[in-house]
Amino acid sequence: MRVTLSTLQKMRAEQQPIVALTAYDYTFAQAVDNAGVDVVLVGDSLGNVIQGHGSTVPVTVEDIVYHCQCVARGLDRALLMADLPFLSYADEATAIDSAGALMKHGGAQMVKLEGTQDQAAIVEALTIAGVPVCAHIGLQPQLVDKLGGFKVQGKDEQSANRIVEDACALEAAGADLLLVECVSAPVAERIRAAVNLPLIGIGAGVNCDGQVLVLQDVLGITQGRVPRFSRNFMPQGQSIPGALSAYAEAVRARTFPDATECFE
Ligand code: KIV
Repeated sequence: MRVTLSTLQKMRAEQQPIVALTAYDYTFAQAVDNAGVDVVLVGDSLGNVIQGHGSTVPVTVEDIVYHCQCVARGLDRALLMADLPFLSYADEATAIDSAGALMKHGGAQMVKLEGTQDQAAIVEALTIAGVPVCAHIGLQPQLVDKLGGFKVQGKDEQSANRIVEDACALEAAGADLLLVECVSAPVAERIRAAVNLPLIGIGAGVNCDGQVLVLQDVLGITQGRVPRFSRNFMPQGQSIPGALSAYAEAVRARTFPDATECFE
């Protein structure tokens, strides 16, 4: 049975953790699907891990469409989510064109955009146009040049309140799913309590409705700095299929992330 938005809503309602992971090509899409991952993300992290850039900023809609096409051919069960890259959703018309390309040509079933309440009108326009949307809140890697680096978000009361407000505004605008990056576990718990949407976390503690990581981090092949919130599952799994299954099992058992892999 194909994973749909209803499956994800049911999983939240039944408190069954959602397993999400990135993939960028056909072979890994098959491996990730076989491991039982529920949501496969063609992330703009491909700018870093596939193209070798220092950030996600150079990634284009055409890049995401190409990798989506490759991944879509490898999936039988998982829902395929695709990132809208930097500046591809700067206004409503551009967002609809970009999302149209990812869905019509790439085969994506949902698009993800980084945003705050300032992007509510864009989410609303996509929703009215019939595009399923995941809103990525908290740390927005596309804004790295503005933020001056990758930093934990919502560290004081005021900025934590603002992230909870972002979540509520984006839900009201029609978002179908939320993804929160790099906030403390208590802030993620506040967001989860404030919305009715499934909440996927990355660097946001164990009490989200699901977890997402970058494939290369799970396989332990990321060179250089590895985010504190990721885990290399290769030693445990001993092979690529084993590592992917170990990741899926750890998310489902809520043994990932542990206390050392989140921010308090
Ligand atoms: O681009 C990506 O891979 C992402 C995840 C890190 C959530 O947005």
